[in-house]
Amino acid sequence: MILVTGATGHVGGELVRRLAAAGEPVRAMTRRPAEARLPAGAQAVYGDAADPASLDAAFAGADGVFLMSAQAVGTAPEPTHDLALAAAAARAGVRRVVKLSTLDGGTGSDPIARWQTTAEAAVTDPARGFVWTLLRPGRFMSNALRWTGQLRAGDEVAIPFADRPAASVDPADLAEIAALALLSTEQHAGVVHELSGPQSLTPTQELAVLGEILGRDLRVRPVPTDAARAGMAGYGFPSEVVDAIMRRTLDGDRGAEVLPTVEKVLGRPARTFTQWARAHRDEY
Ligand SMILES: NC(=O)c1ccc[n+]([C@@H]2O[C@H](COP(=O)([O-])OP(=O)(O)OC[C@H]3O[C@@H](n4cnc5c(N)ncnc54)[C@H](OP(=O)(O)O)[C@@H]3O)[C@@H](O)[C@H]2O)c1
Repeated sequence: MILVTGATGHVGGELVRRLAAAGEPVRAMTRRPAEARLPAGAQAVYGDAADPASLDAAFAGADGVFLMSAQAVGTAPEPTHDLALAAAAARAGVRRVVKLSTLDGGTGSDPIARWQTTAEAAVTDPARGFVWTLLRPGRFMSNALRWTGQLRAGDEVAIPFADRPAASVDPADLAEIAALALLSTEQHAGVVHELSGPQSLTPTQELAVLGEILGRDLRVRPVPTDAARAGMAGYGFPSEVVDAIMRRTLDGDRGAEVLPTVEKVLGRPARTFTQWARAHRDEY
């Protein structure tokens, strides 16, 4: 049986659907099992990474787990959710662990790097004995769903750093690779997959693609740097983490790099933003 954490999220949700469709016994962890809309064959289970004691029942009997954390960097002295999830997997005797991390998160020595390095080490530590795979994607195409509220109100969307390109990746491609790593041979054991989509686009360009698909003339409203900073603080990031995000954003990172991994692993091209937007048009 495979336990999927973040099972109501973009990656975990796709992964649950994929595993269930393949006839794999799958358990979907959520803090609201009664509300989870799951495919036939998937079983909802309660689990809260902020409450480590709740995780033992969720992890019991799992052979493989997909781990993700929604805890915002710097909102605790260390990544307590990642640490709790990995510890629960170890207590349950899980063998195979696929962890969703982030591209270059652990690079450098800023608070983001310290956080991601600790989070990944909780899974890769040889003492744990996991057969692990790390997924390190850049920006997600699903970030464009953050525009839905503004698009209900009109055709203008306030987007910070709208001209900064990124090779965003479709969460469905991440889920497909996670499923392979959880189910297949040892091919993905001890492997770090750095992942991107097939082309580098700015949010301005992504909005134009979306506008074409929705048949609307959508426009970007630029967000001044100060307002972008305030927005990040609104997510609960402490100021040193906001500084680190700003440095990474303004000094450039590897987010715009088109990486060959999806095509190499899946044997077909990574899904484009146009494909993603067509698949998700009803959500707008
Ligand atoms: N967005 C990006 O551009 C990007 C880029 C690189 C890496 N990432 C990484 O990808 C991950 C986000 O993946 P996603 O987009 O698939 O997630 P998502 O759609 O944002 O969903 C968040 C998931 O986390 C679960 N969750 C929240 N708090 C929880 C808690 N206390 N205990 C257990 N589960 C909890 C939620 O489940 P319930 O609410 O049902 O409990 C939900 O399933 C993050 O780790 C992020 O760092 C994101």
